[in-house]
Amino acid sequence: MATKALFPTLVYEARLESSRRTSLRERLLREALQLREDDGAGRIWSRDNYPGGYTSYGSLCRMQTLSPTFAALERLLDAHVAGFARQLDFDLGGRRLTMTDCWVNVMPRGVAHSLHLHPHSVISGTYYVQVPPGSSAIKFEDPRLDRYMAAPPRRVRAAGTRTWVTVPAPAGNVLLFESWLRHEVPAQRARGLRVSISFNYGWF
Ligand code: NI
Repeated sequence: MATKALFPTLVYEARLESSRRTSLRERLLREALQLREDDGAGRIWSRDNYPGGYTSYGSLCRMQTLSPTFAALERLLDAHVAGFARQLDFDLGGRRLTMTDCWVNVMPRGVAHSLHLHPHSVISGTYYVQVPPGSSAIKFEDPRLDRYMAAPPRRVRAAGTRTWVTVPAPAGNVLLFESWLRHEVPAQRARGLRVSISFNYGWF
């Protein structure tokens, strides 16, 4: 008898931390918090779309083109995205995966980011800049959920049989996933600010 696991959904996690990179993360944190002060259009956008929090998604969503610090992060991420693409067996046909968007998210206590996916992109991800202890974490939805119909619920065991998987990541880590994979961040539970940088890669 042989049971095969077909169609796996890959989520990539890596640590982007060394003494030099810790200083990069500290600079990113300073710039992210400064953006929250300076980006009036972003604060207005966030009031309507990200209540209680700040995101530059609706205003400064190509930070890699505006800040050398974010451009340095882009260079680091390029290598990880290329590695993930190899794990996914992508045949890129001579084209490259390129960062299209990169934005800041600041979540104080109580702020949530509802279920979504990232249209028009191939690979998306988040780099964690500051994660206070007890922070809420990204939660991925089983992409087959809308086909389960009469399927019974499952016992909570390994990640492979759950319909929701939460992936807590500490500051300094990056998570990558295919952009069609739906996810959310439940309401931030910790007191401090959870600060992250999210990004999309397209195929050009
Ligand atoms: Ni997202």
